[in-house]
Amino acid sequence: MDYKQISFEMRLADTDADATAQMLLDKATEAARRAYAPYSRFRVGAAALLSDGTVVTGNNQENAAYPSGLCAERVTVFYANSRYPDTAITHLLIVAETDEGLLRQPVTPCGACRQVLIETEKRQASPIRIYLAGRDTVWCIASAAELMPLSFVPESLVNQ
Ligand code: THU
Repeated sequence: MDYKQISFEMRLADTDADATAQMLLDKATEAARRAYAPYSRFRVGAAALLSDGTVVTGNNQENAAYPSGLCAERVTVFYANSRYPDTAITHLLIVAETDEGLLRQPVTPCGACRQVLIETEKRQASPIRIYLAGRDTVWCIASAAELMPLSFVPESLVNQ
């Protein structure tokens, strides 16, 4: 099987080619610092660039009733879609830090967030380029659809 999950990897320090990634990294890092994560102390920030240039950020919001909390990716995408329902998300960068600082390895979204990202792409009919950021490496993925094969999609609800 020829399945390649990671479209390509880049080192931010080596490139100023991707100014979008750098700009989103700055915004997502700021957002991670505002996360409400007193239980895991794992602070995640996400920054979404919309097709009109708007940037929306979000972070994880935890709760003493643990499952009631929500990941940074879904906070961000749901807010973007609630505030700007007709404006596509073109790029989404995700970063995370612990009390020791930014994660060395890029952070990878959970399955539930992948599910939401995939449906967001379908809804807007255009891909979301995903950047998974680590301290000095960023994995770039051309489309959320690449993050999860055989996802549950709206058509899955139809008995065919
Ligand atoms: N979390 C995110 O916000 N995004 C991810 O991609 C991974 C996990 C959050 C959920 C929880 O608040 C904390 O990180 C630890 O799992």
